[in-house]
Parts: sequence; structure tokens; C-alpha cells
Amino acid sequence: MSEEEVSYFRRALLGWAAQTPRPMPWKGEKDPYKIWLSEVILQQTRVEQGMPYYEKFVKAYPDSRALAGAPEDEVLKMWEGLGYYSRARNLLQTARHIAFDRNGVFPDKYGDIRSLKGVGDYTAAAIASFAFNLPYPVVDGNVYRVLSRYFALDAATDLSSSKKMFASLAGKLLDPDRPGAFNQAIMDFGALCCTPAQPDCGNCPLSQRCLALVKGTPADYPVRLKKTAKKERFFLFLIVRRGDKTLVRKRTGKDIWKGLYEFPNIETGSTAELSETDIKAIFPEGTPKGVLLGEPSDFCRQTLTHREITAVFRELVVPENSPANFIRDGIFSNCIETDLAELKKKFAFPVIISGFLKKFV
Ligand code: ADE
Repeated sequence: MSEEEVSYFRRALLGWAAQTPRPMPWKGEKDPYKIWLSEVILQQTRVEQGMPYYEKFVKAYPDSRALAGAPEDEVLKMWEGLGYYSRARNLLQTARHIAFDRNGVFPDKYGDIRSLKGVGDYTAAAIASFAFNLPYPVVDGNVYRVLSRYFALDAATDLSSSKKMFASLAGKLLDPDRPGAFNQAIMDFGALCCTPAQPDCGNCPLSQRCLALVKGTPADYPVRLKKTAKKERFFLFLIVRRGDKTLVRKRTGKDIWKGLYEFPNIETGSTAELSETDIKAIFPEGTPKGVLLGEPSDFCRQTLTHREITAVFRELVVPENSPANFIRDGIFSNCIETDLAELKKKFAFPVIISGFLKKFV
């Protein structure tokens, strides 16, 4: 690529950004703590959805010391609805590291930023360039799309060799004098103009030299080798009612919901089994006296990057004066009994549960 080609790309992109307002609360922010917070929120979350969470976090925890002092349950509760909760757990761990091991000083070198828990190449490049003007390019799905279209690159973006090629190309194009502005511009350009479906080629600042547009096929880029297969999981959640109490349990398994709360549940193999599960499956040792199983709710669904979750909720009504010894065993073990009315205020649940609770309680 010639110098002229590189400078054309930079000029066109930065010129477009200067004329295209996209106000966001973290734009132009120089405090690395706040930039880090915004970038972690935006790792797997759309800007529109992330904005109120960013505002809430900055207000509650204006610096790493404030965040470091927060209990994990409180941080998870504030994160509720954003998903991918390992982000929240890492956020807290990293805030504690910065507050206690680094005396509240955020690292200012790329390698040190990159080594923070929960910070990958993209987030490190964003923080380094926005906060410290360091020349590291952001490279993600947006950038693959923009570059693969502009250069009509057929390299599959899910191959590690292509990832290296895209990163190297992004590094050459990055404006070393204004790395932060360049990175923000390419993010905004991918979000507003060079969009996945129906890109706005009529108003594109790069259209004169976009090779995919010359070929008439921007929608064919980026190329992927395979579609990500989604694993399906089916859950029956039991809302145990004893008077105005119910049972919840903190998830300890090492999965995406670790540390969140849930209702006692059974995982089944299909939607049919979900609706048909009867009381024998819940109480293999025999049904306790007076316990009633309610009708199944409608199917609740959630689609994650690698998962397709389907859930059904059923009430399990226990007589108020029953000793309910069963709550210590099987799927009820490690549950705590809590007020139904307190549920939503006190505990952070996975979205599949909190979505249902919005309608239920
Ligand atoms: N996605 C990740 N970081 C972003 C940022 N700083 N602005 C807009 N979208 C983003």
C-alpha cells in the first residue's frame, strides 16, 4: 500500500468522523478508569444498551477505589441485564488490583494495560489510544467488515492467519498522530455507515476506492468459514412458594452465570420434556405431602453468541405450615428462603430469569 493510499484512507475516515456527530458519554474522556469501564461494558453490548449502565457505574463508582470497595453481589446486581457476567467479576477484580496493588494508578503502557484481567487486545488498544494517545489499532468484527470490504479481501475472518493479516493492515492504516481519533472513527464508521446489512454506500466517504463496491458486492464481506453452531439448553425453573417466601440459590458452577442467583431447576433435553416434566422428576424419592405443581409458563427464550436457551417456569406451591424438609435436598440444596417481594431488589439473575420476573412479580 502506498503512502498516498494510506493517507487517503485516514483523511476520508477522519473527515467523515468530524462531520458525523455520535455523542456518547465516554467520547473524549481522558480518565483511563472511565474509558476502561466503558470499553468493558461495550465488549459484548450495543452502545444504546450500554450507555445507561455506564452512567450508573460512573455515578456509583467514580474511581477504582470506589469500585474496589463494593461487594461482588452489589456489582453483579448493577450489571444485571448486561449479560456475560464474567465481565463484572473481572471488573471488580481489576479495580481491586488497581486500587490496592497500584495505589489507584491506572497503567499507562500497552503491555500493562493488556495484562489486566478482562482486557483483551481490542480493549487494551482502545484504552491505550483514547487515554494515552498510544498507536495501537482496535481490531474487531466492525474493523474486519470495513477493511474486508474496502480492500475486497476474501480471507476468512475466523482463521487465525487472517486475524493477523487484518491486525497488521489496521496497524498500517492507523494514524500515529491521532490514534484515539482514528480508532473512534473506525468504530463509529462501522456502526453508522459500513453496517452489516444495507451499508450506506451512497453516503460513504470511502466509496470512491472501495473495491467491494466496485465489484458490486459489499454485502458479501466479511467472509467467514463457518457459521457458529449454537448449543441449545432447556431449563425448567421452579418458583417454590411457601406463603410469601421462595427459594433462590447462588450459582457456583464455572459458567457464564457464575455468582448470579437462580431458582431451583432441572435441565432437560428438549422443549417437549420441559412442558411435560412432572412432579416425579422433581421428587424422585416421593412427593412431599400437600405440594402442588403449577402449570408451565410460556416458553422464554434467550439467544447468546454460543447458546440458545429455552426456559419454562412453574410454581411449586408448598403448604405454609409444612416443614418442607425437601428444600435441603437434590435440586433444592444450598437454596436460601427469601421474600418474593424482595427478589428483584436483592438478587442479580440471568436475563432469562429477570425477564420472566418482570412479568411475574
Ligand atoms: N465499541 C467498543 N468501544 C466503543 C467506543 N468507544 N465507542 C463506540 N463503540 C464502541
